[in-house]
Amino acid sequence: MSTTFRIAALAGDGIGPEVMKEAIAVLRAVEKKFSLSLQITEAPVGWAGIDAYGTALSDNVLQLCKDSHAILFGSVGLPDRDNTVPKDQRPERAALLRLRKEFSLYANLRPVRLYPELVHACPLRTERISKGVDVLVVRELTGGLYFGQPKVTTELPDGQKKAVDSMVYTTHEVERIAHVAFRAARLRRKLVTSTDKANVLESGILWRDVVTEVAKQYPDVTLEHMLADNAAMQLILNPGRFDVLLCENTFGDMLSDEAAALAGSLGMLPSASLGAATGAETTFGLYEPAGGSAPDIAGKGIANPLAQILSATLLLRYSLGLDREAAAVEAAIAKVIASGKQTRDVCAPENKSPVGTREMGQAICDAILA
Ligand code: IPM
Ligand code: MG
Repeated sequence: MSTTFRIAALAGDGIGPEVMKEAIAVLRAVEKKFSLSLQITEAPVGWAGIDAYGTALSDNVLQLCKDSHAILFGSVGLPDRDNTVPKDQRPERAALLRLRKEFSLYANLRPVRLYPELVHACPLRTERISKGVDVLVVRELTGGLYFGQPKVTTELPDGQKKAVDSMVYTTHEVERIAHVAFRAARLRRKLVTSTDKANVLESGILWRDVVTEVAKQYPDVTLEHMLADNAAMQLILNPGRFDVLLCENTFGDMLSDEAAALAGSLGMLPSASLGAATGAETTFGLYEPAGGSAPDIAGKGIANPLAQILSATLLLRYSLGLDREAAAVEAAIAKVIASGKQTRDVCAPENKSPVGTREMGQAICDAILA
């Protein structure tokens, strides 16, 4: 008897809908190729949710997520509309951060890989990337500066405003994300670089102590500590030295964008947000491209759908336990890239005809079904 896998597809705003369309087409191709049964239910979130239901994440959409094995998320946020609603109702907080917190998705995995055929799109000189780029950013996602309390803006007696965000971590929160990083490293090159600001931050000292303690359970993995600012620099000087990069929420947000640029484009970076440690077992998760809604190119059919499609691949692997199917999509992507198809964001100067969103999605479907 075959299982029906339930996926909530929340495209959101900006380029979300157009790249989601391609990711769903790819999932349908996988379903056909491997005779699976996927129940994919689309629903509006973000500004699309506000327009449809008056709220960025409505109760019925949240319920849909709860009833699903996984969420395939697009992107939310349209800066032009920000001032039309109170800050706590804006899509980033009310939909995305709320979903992360609601499902305790504390482990955010962002695999950054530079495909050999896209070396021209990496901003570094070729001699700097002789070892290639293959980094897994493990970002803590439900603590730190994003969620720490107090988080408030108040007015001072003299009329000035005072805004506070708090970088808060408990031992438990650092422990569980450290375990995720060490386990992931075991399946890779066995090096964890843990970033912090232990030289100035209390939470950085705790972070470093706890990670050092957890490392004792993984004698086969090498642990190094690196100050987060230095890590930002080393990523540019010598990206090939990194394997797993373990980061606090905000540092991980920044370092993963930087790492994505090394892979040619933010349009290439998928992510998996998981609530349970990754291991053999499958777990509920939210899968989204790490880039934003890119309103400047929305609706033009030129956005790179690969980050969304790669996010669907991570969903197959981590939430549905479909390793073979995930590998088939990855192979199809590698094949299409090797064939020279490039979207505008990763286009070589000599390539005068980049493909659009649709054509890239179609090429991957064709490669899966071939
Ligand atoms: C990311 C994004 C989000 C974040 C935004 C959209 C809230 O930048 O996933 O990296 O800051 O976490
Ligand atoms: Mg970000």
